[in-house]
Amino acid sequence: MLNQNKNLKLFKLISETAAENGQNVFAVGGFVRDLLMKRKAATDIDFVTEQNGIELAQKIAEKLNPKPKISIFKTYGTAMFRYQNLDLEFVGARRESYSENSRKPAVENGTLEDDQKRRDFTINAMAISLNKENFGTLIDPFGGQKDLQNKILRTPLEPHQTYSDDPLRMMRAIRFAATLDFKIEENSLGAIKTEAERIQIVSMERIMTEFNKIMLSQKPSIGLKLLDETTLLEKILPELTALKGIEEIDGQTHKDNFYHTLEVLDNISENTDKLWLRWASLLHDIGKAPTKKFVEETGWTFHGHEFIGSKMIKPIFKRLKLPLGTEQKFVEKLVRMHARPIALVTDDASDSALRRLLFDSGEDLEDLFTLCKADITTKNYSRQARFKENFEYVLRKIKEVEEKDRIRNFQPPISGEEIMEMFNIPPGREIGILKEKVKEAILEGDIENDKTQARNFVIKEAEKLRLKMK
Ligand code: CTP
Repeated sequence: MLNQNKNLKLFKLISETAAENGQNVFAVGGFVRDLLMKRKAATDIDFVTEQNGIELAQKIAEKLNPKPKISIFKTYGTAMFRYQNLDLEFVGARRESYSENSRKPAVENGTLEDDQKRRDFTINAMAISLNKENFGTLIDPFGGQKDLQNKILRTPLEPHQTYSDDPLRMMRAIRFAATLDFKIEENSLGAIKTEAERIQIVSMERIMTEFNKIMLSQKPSIGLKLLDETTLLEKILPELTALKGIEEIDGQTHKDNFYHTLEVLDNISENTDKLWLRWASLLHDIGKAPTKKFVEETGWTFHGHEFIGSKMIKPIFKRLKLPLGTEQKFVEKLVRMHARPIALVTDDASDSALRRLLFDSGEDLEDLFTLCKADITTKNYSRQARFKENFEYVLRKIKEVEEKDRIRNFQPPISGEEIMEMFNIPPGREIGILKEKVKEAILEGDIENDKTQARNFVIKEAEKLRLKMK
């Protein structure tokens, strides 16, 4: 299996070094899976030996030029180093033995097969021998190759045990299902449902690493629906599952905002790979659960859901250990503004409304429009086409306004220093008032974004504040 591999020379070197040292060695895990799937070039490769992994890594590193720096984790019997853009990890095969009075397994040295069966999925439990007698042979005791062909995620051991040993594997199962388009085998799916509670013992950072891989998959709703079905989603993001369901009063219903959100997320994922823009779509209607009301005359309303939703972003990001800087602010802004362009489409937008949208969205205008377009989930194709056309029209008009008035990344045409100089006054609140008035006048279209017009406007306004030109 390795004859055509671009790392063949390295594998030969590892093979020879192990033999010299009286050891055997196997490539295992994701590397073997991806090789069989012809998926992507390896960036990290894991090796298992039935003897001492740390010792083997040291002997191999000796032979490399330049000699790599080895990181050793004695408690796990692991050693790793980087070599030519590859992260190589060596570990001694391990076996877990459970004693009756302790849930925690004792880890001791074992055979390759012991090591394979304590892995998460059969597709990740295959090995390739690097030993002279059968170099390049696949060792697949649990039918990983067949599961790969049939696109099935199955655990080598009884699924409850595999998931209970490391509950992060529940997230990994769904992540692989979402990114590789695999089915989770029925018993395995059942086990995730019963073990779901144990996700609480996994660190949020590790959960989010998997969650974000689901978010970045081609059609994220696949993974999110599985997270929902297994009840993991309500444990991670209950604000989202709170959007589920349709209520009816006086014969009036509203749409199911959970499934609507998943559609929006899938729509946006066809147009962007930006993780935080995808997050904005996931959370855009998050304020709809707390704002839902039935009003006699109008029916169902979600008044102020954009604002309430935007206020929910920071606590969610904090809890999920997502980055609180620009990423959180970006999502918050898009959630707050997501209905603004729609209002312009239907209201026959005035230039000043367009200028305000430009001013408030600034750099994020295109992303905001990408979100708005994705938010159109009507199944009525002519309505859909009309909405999209309207958006293009608004976008064109916005471009015209921008060319004329340069509102995006707005820089005031007259500075505070210039105003102080004009009236010979020290810094004070008048400066702020006048600058704000200039900005408002430009946004309203009373004056253009132009120095002379701004100067004349300031002179007029200053009179009202009893300021005199020097
Ligand atoms: N593994 C496991 N349980 C986990 C994590 C990993 O059994 N919770 C095992 C699997 O055999 C896996 C290997 O360790 O193939 C290496 O894990 P990792 O590098 O995290 O993932 P990959 O399977 O290589 O996949 P990816 O690179 O897509 O994360």
